[in-house]
Amino acid sequence: MNEVRLGIVGLGRLGKRHAHNLRYRVPGARLVAACSVVPDELTWARDELGVENTYDSYDKMIASDEIDAVFLVSTSSFHGEQIKAGLAAGKHVFSEKPMGVTIEECHDVEGAVAAAPNLHFQLGFVRRFDPSLAYAKQKIDEGAIGEPFLVRAQTVDTDEFAEFQIKFVPNSGGIFMDMNSHDIDLARWFIGSEIKSVYAIGGSYVHPGFAEVNDADNTVALCQFENGKMAVISASRTAFHGHDTHTEITGSKGILKIGMTPSKNRVEIFDDKGARVECVQDFYERFHEGFLLEAQSFVNGIIDGVKPSIFATDGTRATEVGFALTQSFKEKRVVEL
Ligand code: NAI
Repeated sequence: MNEVRLGIVGLGRLGKRHAHNLRYRVPGARLVAACSVVPDELTWARDELGVENTYDSYDKMIASDEIDAVFLVSTSSFHGEQIKAGLAAGKHVFSEKPMGVTIEECHDVEGAVAAAPNLHFQLGFVRRFDPSLAYAKQKIDEGAIGEPFLVRAQTVDTDEFAEFQIKFVPNSGGIFMDMNSHDIDLARWFIGSEIKSVYAIGGSYVHPGFAEVNDADNTVALCQFENGKMAVISASRTAFHGHDTHTEITGSKGILKIGMTPSKNRVEIFDDKGARVECVQDFYERFHEGFLLEAQSFVNGIIDGVKPSIFATDGTRATEVGFALTQSFKEKRVVEL
């Protein structure tokens, strides 16, 4: 096999970006099909990307012999079922995070992945493919900061999307599940242990609408790992300067800081307002290289027969910790996993 024929599912905010990458920027990928429940998105796929086959039903798409793999960028609450159905139909599966919005669903996916050992399953923990975060992991593995014992990771979105996001809370799993799943995954990856207890606080400090759906616009959580090490994970939906997602790892011999100032580029502006940089404005601008590299890795893995390094168990752990954080926030107590 020297090319992978893919069908993309979901052509919304992120799906269109993935589709564009798969169509034009990932050698070895051939985007032959697209599925969406929104007719205009299928028209876009045909007109803008020249996708030959479009479907309003996922089941019809995976019944086709013309695709080897599905690339799921659908609404989070559909991921679990669509992963299982894709594998059962004999397709390799890439799925955006979260792997499932319930723990039971995640366990079902783990079973489906184990039952299909010849198929590839990769979860979209894009930050592991970000060149700077991947370099940080390499430095930790080389012992550059000694023994890592504290990860501080935050995901911060700009305020302009906040009102819009309130209506997504019921399907996204809430702020901890939706925004912090990457931070949880990174903390596990860097520390090399499982989170065993959490305490989360937060509130709707700027947008009361989040409180009305039992969610928050700003949160902070303390996490302790089985090996005694620590993580501080926070989220905000109310920044004005830009998308400010950064990570810091403290070890016994040094500290790694990744993206602490969310600069758009290396230009510094010195003018009558002072000295400043412009900032990246959304997750895609910050992680666009990672999105391309994760898609390339999925396609190369299928062509070369190399299994992905992110496992279904990683998806389950992120969802379990996301649930524990949500429970801790709602019940105002420490939650043990
Ligand atoms: P969106 O709401 O803009 O798009 C969702 C898409 O799914 C739409 O095209 C819709 O037609 C399609 N869809 C919904 N139900 C479907 C079904 N049953 N069958 C086929 N298509 C269906 O959402 P957005 O922001 O693009 O997010 C999509 C996924 O990507 C979410 O799971 C989200 O968590 C994830 N995501 C991941 C990010 C990352 O950093 N890795 C960043 C943003 C989103």
